[in-house]
Amino acid sequence: MPIHVYVCHGRSCQERFSPYILLRLKNDRERFFPNDDIVLDTCLCRGKCQESPTIEVDGTLYTRMSPIAAGSMLAKRVAEAKKTISVNKKQKNHAVSISTTPHE
Ligand code: FES
Repeated sequence: MPIHVYVCHGRSCQERFSPYILLRLKNDRERFFPNDDIVLDTCLCRGKCQESPTIEVDGTLYTRMSPIAAGSMLAKRVAEAKKTISVNKKQKNHAVSISTTPHE
């Protein structure tokens, strides 16, 4: 399941350097997560201009972002996604091993 990251492209966020956040996230995705499914795009104003710049990660809005904070947020989200996939695989393997046990 892809990770969706949207960087606000509204005026207030742009004035507070959201284009640099987008650039940082693009670079981090290419450099650190080339094989991960990350959708990175811009979005319209999220109504939190007083706390800009904002980014939205999988439906959760984060305010007062910086390029470094956004990069950390992406790394954390990727790690969480991998952990979830790992747990799901373990549960799936456990279920398979249970189902292959002969019934008496
Ligand atoms: S311009 Fe980004 S939240 Fe309004």
